[in-house]
Amino acid sequence: MAAKTISAPIEVYRYDPSRDRAPRYDRFTLEVEPHTPVLTALLSIRNQQDPSLTLRYSCRSAICGSCAMQINSKSRLACQTPIGPEIERHGRLVVEPMRNQAVLRDLVVDQSSFWQNYRKIEPYLKLDPRQPMPEGTPNPMTPAEVDRFHETPRCIACAACYSACPAVESDPAFPGPMALAKLYRFVVDPRDRATQDRLVRIQTEGLWLCLRCHLCTEACPKDVQPSERIRDLKELAIAAQGGTERGSRHAIGFKENIRERGLLQEMKLVRQTDGLAGLAGQLGQGLRIWRKKPETTKRPPAIEDLAQVETLYRELDDPTEGHR
Ligand code: FES
Repeated sequence: MAAKTISAPIEVYRYDPSRDRAPRYDRFTLEVEPHTPVLTALLSIRNQQDPSLTLRYSCRSAICGSCAMQINSKSRLACQTPIGPEIERHGRLVVEPMRNQAVLRDLVVDQSSFWQNYRKIEPYLKLDPRQPMPEGTPNPMTPAEVDRFHETPRCIACAACYSACPAVESDPAFPGPMALAKLYRFVVDPRDRATQDRLVRIQTEGLWLCLRCHLCTEACPKDVQPSERIRDLKELAIAAQGGTERGSRHAIGFKENIRERGLLQEMKLVRQTDGLAGLAGQLGQGLRIWRKKPETTKRPPAIEDLAQVETLYRELDDPTEGHR
C-alpha cells in the first residue's frame, strides 16, 4: 500500500544581497509523506523546480549542524524537522535563514560573528605550562567531575541558540548561548588553570546580558540546555567575586528584595544595583512614573503568607531541607 502523502505549501525566503533590492518569499507545493524532513523537501525543490535555491547542509543526520534555519519562526535543524506536524500546527511551512547573522544568499548566513564571539572568550582547556601533564597520564577526572558538564559536549555548533537569542539581537557583543555553555564546561573542568580569571573576565564580557528567556534551550536540538549552564556560570561568578559587578549586584539584590516582602520593590532594586548615584540618575523617570501611576512607586505591602516564600528560599539554598 502506498504511503499517505500530503500537499505541502512551502514558502521559502529568497535573497541575493548582490542583486536583489529586497528579500521575497517564493511559494512551492510538494506532495510529500508527513515524516519527510524539511531539508529533503528543500532539496527536492532545488533539484526539480529551482536549481538556484541556496542552502547549507552536509550529514542529513542531525550531526554536522549545517542545516539550521528558521522553520515557522523557530530555529531548527531542517534535516530533523518533519513537515507533517508543522503543516498540521501552522497550516503552512515558512522557511527562512537563521536570525542574528547576515544573509549571504537565500538560506545561507554569514557565521563570522557567531564564531568571533565564541573565540573571544577562549572556551578551551588552559593548562599550567609549568606543570605539564606527564605523557600517558589517563584522564584524571572522576566520573562525578565529568558529570558536571556532560550535556555540553553534545553541542554540534549549529548556532540555532544564537539565532534564537534576543540578547544577541539587542547587543551583538553578547558572546551567545553556545559560547557561554562551552565556557562553563572549562570553568568546571578540574584540569583547567584559568577558572578564576575566566569568571572575573566573563562578567564584563557579556555574562549578565543573558535575559533568562530560555529560548536557547528551547531551540537547542541536542538538549545542551545553554540557559541552565549560563545560570550555573552566574552562580559560580558570584561565588568567585561576590557582588562586585553590576549584574551580580542586580541578581543578589533581586533575590533579597523578593525575600523581604514577596514582591519586587523596584526603587530599592535600583539602589541595590546602582547605588544612590544610580537612583538619582533615574529620578526623572521615577517622577514620570509617579505622575502617571503613583501607586507603583509606593513600597508594596508584604504578601500574606510570607513564610512560604522563606520556605522556598531555604529549600533553594539547601535542596535537602524540605526532605529531611
Ligand atoms: S545536515 Fe547535518 S545537521 Fe542537518
